[in-house]
Amino acid sequence: KDDRIAKISSAIRVIPDFPKPGIMFQDITTLLLDPKAFKDSIDLFVERYKDQQISVVAGIEARGFIFGPPIALAIGAKFVPMRKPKKLPGEVISEEYSLEYGTDIMEMHVGAVEPGERALIIDDLIATGGTLCAAIRLLERVGVVVVECACLIELPELKGRDRLGDKPLFVLVSAD
Ligand code: PRP
Ligand code: MG
Repeated sequence: KDDRIAKISSAIRVIPDFPKPGIMFQDITTLLLDPKAFKDSIDLFVERYKDQQISVVAGIEARGFIFGPPIALAIGAKFVPMRKPKKLPGEVISEEYSLEYGTDIMEMHVGAVEPGERALIIDDLIATGGTLCAAIRLLERVGVVVVECACLIELPELKGRDRLGDKPLFVLVSAD
């Protein structure tokens, strides 16, 4: 296996009981402090996607905004932010999704993407998969082809991958 992965994995800090007891928080800010490991994480995605005719990298607020733009620049794609509600100034389309308690809304600017474009969705982490599912629905509603979802970290116990159905998911690190 790629020895860059082990270094990326060890650069991600795990903080127990944050934000509440029982949660092992996967903190990617320590990866960002290590320029070599941070660059390796971007390169691994770029190597996978550079020849896949992807024209859109959709990054999910907030932590998908850290990893999405460098990948987009390197593969020559545009970057489209998938934002929390009431942040985008133009006309938006919205998608509601469920959280552990209650619901949230994800928004994207109308006109940011065209039907038939090929998109990659980027976030830092997949837990239940609800966030990525909302992003897939938003893009597919406007006729975009979602080629794959990509995250640095997967929490396999939460079975988010199953929730994505047959949509491919690529992750660098599995946090068991
Ligand atoms: C976290 C994480 C993913 C999402 C994954 O974001 O960054 O975006 O949860 O959870 P899910 O697979 O169960 O949907 P969070 O909503 O905490 O916000 P942030 O990225 O803005 O900090
Ligand atoms: Mg997030």
